[in-house]
Amino acid sequence: MDLADIKKAGVIGGGTMGFGIAINFALNGYPTVMSDLSDEILNQSMNHVESAMRLFVEEELITREQADGTRNRITTTTDLAEVAAHADFITEAIVERLKDKQEIFNKLDELCPPHTIIVSNTSGLVLSDIGADVKRQDKIGLTHYFTPPHIVPGVEVAKGPGTSDSTYATICDLMKKMKKVPIRVLKELPGYLLNRIQGAMTQEANRLWAEGVATAEEIELGVKSTFGFRMPHEGPMGHYDLSGVWKWPADAHSALQTRQTTEPLDEAAQKITERMAEGRPWFVDPEKFDRAIQKRDREYIRRLKALYNPEDR
Ligand SMILES: NC(=O)c1ccc[n+]([C@@H]2O[C@H](COP(=O)([O-])OP(=O)(O)OC[C@H]3O[C@@H](n4cnc5c(N)ncnc54)[C@H](O)[C@@H]3O)[C@@H](O)[C@H]2O)c1
Repeated sequence: MDLADIKKAGVIGGGTMGFGIAINFALNGYPTVMSDLSDEILNQSMNHVESAMRLFVEEELITREQADGTRNRITTTTDLAEVAAHADFITEAIVERLKDKQEIFNKLDELCPPHTIIVSNTSGLVLSDIGADVKRQDKIGLTHYFTPPHIVPGVEVAKGPGTSDSTYATICDLMKKMKKVPIRVLKELPGYLLNRIQGAMTQEANRLWAEGVATAEEIELGVKSTFGFRMPHEGPMGHYDLSGVWKWPADAHSALQTRQTTEPLDEAAQKITERMAEGRPWFVDPEKFDRAIQKRDREYIRRLKALYNPEDR
């Protein structure tokens, strides 16, 4: 199914993620039906939609008319069959429990017309388990939003073992149409890509706290005022480029790696060590390195002026 064939959306689960995911679709013009276990829960979800829309208008992200339009394009139901009958693209965002997600996928598979694409917003489960018994293997996928999903741009997009290239392309196109940034994850693995990166940091922060290396407050402040401050401009790969580490001699790289991890170098660490030994950045043209640094520093200075007030400590 092409992007143009998607006319209506469905979201199963109206909790922390579901109501925000529904907003994305509705804000971008898709009539969206949101489903949950009871009308009471759905009323609460709609209250969250209302308050998110108020904030969007107050912050001048959208106009009052756009907010009203978004609100009016979202309807609710407790009947899964109604979602199946309505939507060409359905996002499952229910509780993180494999059995429940499997049940929803299987029911939707039965109820939906053949063209409907069904995706999961799971944080940690894999699609080959969630969709194990689904017949439309080519039309299932994963869109993993980050909370708050109606604000954070990046969305991981992954395939199950049978997801077709065309379904995958349609999902990515849909994310782009909704002004999201699709992050293509090439392998199926629990936690996919970004939760694993984020989780590695959290795990280490927790361990350092438990070992008494720093207080929780100092860890939080340290992350936010150092690499957290840089993050909107550079992730780990971009940082390797802009910090000039790619210019280091190979033996200095391996010293850096062992300093940062207590584990012996495994196959992957060996691979990255070899990549670093090539002495070339990931993205930056070495000829234009100084210009890239200037651009970075200008952005940091602007952010420093706008955001970071040491007196807030
Ligand atoms: N909260 C996050 O930061 C976050 C981020 C990314 C992904 N996720 C994933 O999104 C999914 C939802 O998480 P959440 O934080 O929104 O949870 P939540 O508990 O806030 O919301 C889940 C909603 O699903 C409803 N629900 C449960 N079973 C249902 C069923 N059978 N049919 C219809 N509705 C059902 C619940 O009533 C609830 O309203 C999970 O898979 C989670 O791992 C969460």
